[in-house]
Amino acid sequence: MTTTKTETAIQVDLAKCTRCGFCAEVCPSGIIRVDVNGPSLIAPKACIKCGHCVAVCPHAAMDHNRNPLAKQVKRQASLTVSAEMAEQFLRSRRSIRAYKPEKVSQEKILRLLNVARLAPSGGNSQGVSFLVLSDAAVLNQISAAVVDWLEEQINQGVAWTKPYAGMAKIYRETGYDVVLRGAPHLLLSLAATGNPIGRDNGRYALTYAELFATSLGLGSCWAGFFEMAAFSNYQPLLDLIGAPEGKTITGAIMLGVPKHQYQLLVERNPLDVLFK
Ligand SMILES: Cc1cc2nc3c(=O)[nH]c(=O)nc-3n(C[C@H](O)[C@H](O)[C@H](O)COP(=O)(O)O)c2cc1C
Repeated sequence: MTTTKTETAIQVDLAKCTRCGFCAEVCPSGIIRVDVNGPSLIAPKACIKCGHCVAVCPHAAMDHNRNPLAKQVKRQASLTVSAEMAEQFLRSRRSIRAYKPEKVSQEKILRLLNVARLAPSGGNSQGVSFLVLSDAAVLNQISAAVVDWLEEQINQGVAWTKPYAGMAKIYRETGYDVVLRGAPHLLLSLAATGNPIGRDNGRYALTYAELFATSLGLGSCWAGFFEMAAFSNYQPLLDLIGAPEGKTITGAIMLGVPKHQYQLLVERNPLDVLFK
């Protein structure tokens, strides 16, 4: 099979293929046709290289040049979590605002990000990159810049800022880091500037990171004030970040080792749902 970079091609082991049609049924673009001769692509250009056709095949008969069989990992049934375990896992994630001073190893951050990058993305576009800031002096400057920005909003009478005037005051009077909570790392998601779904994709990836962090003994918290300042292109802040050329910040979470363990699972507002 010879292909150029942009061409999409599937390769089917016809001895293994039972013509069950699963690959066609799961294809998001509906571009696989299965007949007596096996599966074939009817509009290869519409492929989003999601790898579903390869992953769903019960006989490992399908290969795909843009999402190869050799790169897909066998799902281990023994690692499947029960509904009870999943519920406790999801409910155990809390926003962490008290961190141990120690840094997280680069190896652990890479493990975290290697799961985060697997999050869903619009049209499987992916395109999320990460920037990990760990220099304590820079993080302090970032918090100071965000408070400067927040005070500018407060002084201009921006409506949503009202409840937060107290936070800026606390920062000024006590030095308590109301922005990054003294976290040893700030994890940013980035996307190509102008990517219309870059913000969404980045947030899904950071949500994966936030959830998986708990399994690595880590804690995180969305850095919402930082995000608002960054999203409004507050230049003093952007200068401190130094994002690579052509990339825009799409999300931010604090990261570190939690100082405390929570003993109880949270309750929220009652479920509000309609079935029609
Ligand atoms: C988009 C977003 C922005 C947030 N920004 C901040 C923030 O700037 N500072 C902070 O301490 N918590 C922030 N949070 C955390 C929320 O306050 C928290 O999720 C909420 O209180 C529920 O608590 P829990 O996450 O511990 O369950 C943010 C959460 C989200 C989803």
